[in-house]
Amino acid sequence: LSIEQFERADIERVFDVADAMEPYALRRRVTRVLEGAILGNMFFEASTRTRVSFGCAFNLLGGEVRETTGFASSAISKGESLYDTARVLSGYSDVICMRHPEPGSVAEFAAASRVPVINGGDGHNEHPSQALLDLYTIRKELADKNRQVDGMRIAMIGDLKYGRTVHSLCKLLKVFRDLHLTLVSPAELAMPDDIVDDLRGAGHQVQVSDDLTHSIAHVDIAYSTRIQEERFDSRREADLYRGRFRLNQAIYTQYCEPNTVIMHPLPRDSRAAANELDEDLNQNPNLAIFRQTDNGVLVRMALFALILDVVDQVDRCARPVNW
Ligand code: CP
Repeated sequence: LSIEQFERADIERVFDVADAMEPYALRRRVTRVLEGAILGNMFFEASTRTRVSFGCAFNLLGGEVRETTGFASSAISKGESLYDTARVLSGYSDVICMRHPEPGSVAEFAAASRVPVINGGDGHNEHPSQALLDLYTIRKELADKNRQVDGMRIAMIGDLKYGRTVHSLCKLLKVFRDLHLTLVSPAELAMPDDIVDDLRGAGHQVQVSDDLTHSIAHVDIAYSTRIQEERFDSRREADLYRGRFRLNQAIYTQYCEPNTVIMHPLPRDSRAAANELDEDLNQNPNLAIFRQTDNGVLVRMALFALILDVVDQVDRCARPVNW
């Protein structure tokens, strides 16, 4: 429900299991370890990556997926409560993933559920599985450059007020040591104070800035985010901030160190006036955004295997692919 439920040892365990999922995610082997199990994939807010990768991860372990997308296809649109919805759906499923626009709603749903619930994003609050896949990616990208997470320098850029992915990532990074974080946003969209205070309390150096080029000059990771239009009162208000911190190849070449890894939770806003991460970066080998999305399947497979306690049986239920 929250990334703060994870100690460092838990994170290492998730990542070890995620590594072991690679042959299955790459379809070199097939496992039926969750044959007969059902995932309830309940997304009451738009999603491409999280919804589909949770579904694929469950399928790759041999389980079946039932989906509800949006409020219109749910009896919540007829006034049914989250409590009743949770009681009903947890009778049909072995595990549930849920996304909902209200902060705290997934925890409320989980309290009434009879099966484990994974938070697929609750409003501007948290997106814990995204933080895990981001950290898994950061670890791999830095290892390729003979670096590690402890001591790394990271800039988070964009809408840090409403961006739940950066909220969860900051909370996750508390368990590491000696980080240098630069939080780049318009003052109105700054990272919430409690998250900044917790990072400083964990011994990390945190700088707040509204200067993109200066902030990305000496970092290992430049983590860009979209203006979260859906959290604003109007599109017009969101437009005030769109396009303020645009990273493109020319800026990267001029200001970043050659090995700086570029990340983004996606979706990136591809509209010309908004575009926080320009498509001219697509051929840059340090652009890790699609490695992030691929890693999401591994991490989500690991979460299911751990939650349903089948890690030791994954290989025993496996066979080579025959297609
Ligand atoms: N990163 C992320 O949560 O993407 P979706 O909204 O497409 O799930």
